[in-house]
Amino acid sequence: MKSLKSWHSVAYKLVKKNLYEKIINNKMLSIFTTSLIIQWSILSLIIYSIITLLKWLKFKWNCLNCFVQQSIPGPKPSFWFGNLPEFVPNSFAALNKWTNEYGEYFGYFYGNRPILVINDRDAIYEILVQNGSKFPNRLISGVEMEPFRSSLLNQQDKAWKFTRRILTPAFTAHRISMETTRQAINLSVKNLIKSMEKKLSKNNVNELNITEHMHSVTMDVICRLAFNMNDSDVQEEHSSFRKMVVDFMEQASDPSLAIMEYFPLLKKILKIFFQIFGVGKLLQTISNKLKYEISKYYQEKNDNVDNVQMRKNRKVNILDFMIEQQELGNLNESQLIGNAMVILLAGYETTALGLSFTLYLLAKHQDWQEKLRKEILENFNDDYDYCQFDQYRSELLDRIWYESLRLYPPVTAFITRRLDTSIDEYRMKSLNVNITKDMTIMIPTWPIHHNEKYWPRPNEFDPNRDNLPIPGNKTINKNSAFLAFGSGSRNCIGGNLAISESRAVIVALLKHYQFDLIDDPNSERFTPIDPNTGLIKLCCPTLLIHPAKNIWLRVTKI
Ligand code: HEM
Repeated sequence: MKSLKSWHSVAYKLVKKNLYEKIINNKMLSIFTTSLIIQWSILSLIIYSIITLLKWLKFKWNCLNCFVQQSIPGPKPSFWFGNLPEFVPNSFAALNKWTNEYGEYFGYFYGNRPILVINDRDAIYEILVQNGSKFPNRLISGVEMEPFRSSLLNQQDKAWKFTRRILTPAFTAHRISMETTRQAINLSVKNLIKSMEKKLSKNNVNELNITEHMHSVTMDVICRLAFNMNDSDVQEEHSSFRKMVVDFMEQASDPSLAIMEYFPLLKKILKIFFQIFGVGKLLQTISNKLKYEISKYYQEKNDNVDNVQMRKNRKVNILDFMIEQQELGNLNESQLIGNAMVILLAGYETTALGLSFTLYLLAKHQDWQEKLRKEILENFNDDYDYCQFDQYRSELLDRIWYESLRLYPPVTAFITRRLDTSIDEYRMKSLNVNITKDMTIMIPTWPIHHNEKYWPRPNEFDPNRDNLPIPGNKTINKNSAFLAFGSGSRNCIGGNLAISESRAVIVALLKHYQFDLIDDPNSERFTPIDPNTGLIKLCCPTLLIHPAKNIWLRVTKI
């Protein structure tokens, strides 16, 4: 029995030992396996990082050499940031400087993006007009986010073509000259005169902030046409809506947009940051207000007009066109809001700047102001319709407007084009260079509008120039060096509206007032002049050229 017991205990010990060894072995094995896994993971991570780094270096090397390989001149980019350090603080000055240094065409790097700048008229024609269908796309930072993401401004390829096709009928010259549009413009212009009168009658003031007045009248027009905000107070000094939009435009050069180009991998995080803390918040408030106005209008329209057919025929403004496209299933709600927002932002400040520069030039060139006023007083016979010159054209008025836009084009670095995504490469005949998928072409308006080759005495205001694109000018061909509204199929959709409202504003103002410069250089309201060009001192915080200080003029009632 004892021996059996001891045998059991020996066996037990043996099993235990075995088990113990097994456990130890298993433990050893698992430690070994874990360490092997860790080692492999670290090794794979290192290999992956090396491959990614090599890939990135190859991409960077190819990218930074894409211009050198084709002997395209340009400023030397820094390895990390490309040419952003010089471009971001003052894009306007950088483009002008590089154009002076490198001439007809050159390449620079917006972060990792190679940008080919073209200043040659034939090359511009080749890209924008002759082969415009191969270059339907545009590049601008910041418009990938709501509410712009699904708008005309951001869309590419087929999506853009579709939206452009359905929105174009709302902007034709015929549509803009229709009774309902004229009524909207007339109401806004009358409000402008009222608000100027109010200011002028206060303590015998005779100097007015023209830039501010032009901002408010053009915003009033767009609010009526694109959101049916007929009772809006945007021309009032206290208007909270105008303040919001102006603040947004001022802050739109948010540094986070440029940071995105430095660190494309962080783009997603920065977008959220922008949405919560940056101007994204302001943008959201504006877009909520527009949503409210649009749905209010939609409701009123449905309540007032029962008959669907009648409702369809009653397209009185741009918003009606968009609502019709929504009902047809061509636009969803976010596309409608996005496009309405783009029309507001693209439409009001551009036209306001164009008008401010024109009034400044008329105040500076009294002979042109007198000539134009004489023509207006002789031909203008209906005090209730400031849009008469849409039908009974005044060539002189159009010449002055276009020459002002030639001398001071409000939009400068916005005309960009990219290849259709289905095309890999395009050989540019006029410059003998290859345009690849990754490249963006930029056509900077200012240097072309001030190139002596195309515009002799470029810094002089001369409305008699024979190559201004005034309506009906037969001497001018498509290959024009006038690019204030861009060119080709992706040009400015709102050009007809801009000229109609500008005609109405200029007619009304010259009929009622005399404009003079404030010529005391010590006055706060004096418009500073650039001594090198004799032109107004300018700044370019975003894509638009602004006078360095708001334009003030002496205004006398006639
Ligand atoms: C003097 C006034 C204006 C100027 C100087 C101007 C200038 C421009 C320029 C240079 C472009 C880019 C064109 C291109 O890439 O070829 C553009 C595009 C655009 N503009 Fe204007 N614009 C003005 C008024 C307006 C108005 C009144 C509206 C709307 C009501 C408007 C809406 C747009 C839109 C939506 C685009 C983008 C078009 C697209 O991508 O298909 N603009 N504008």
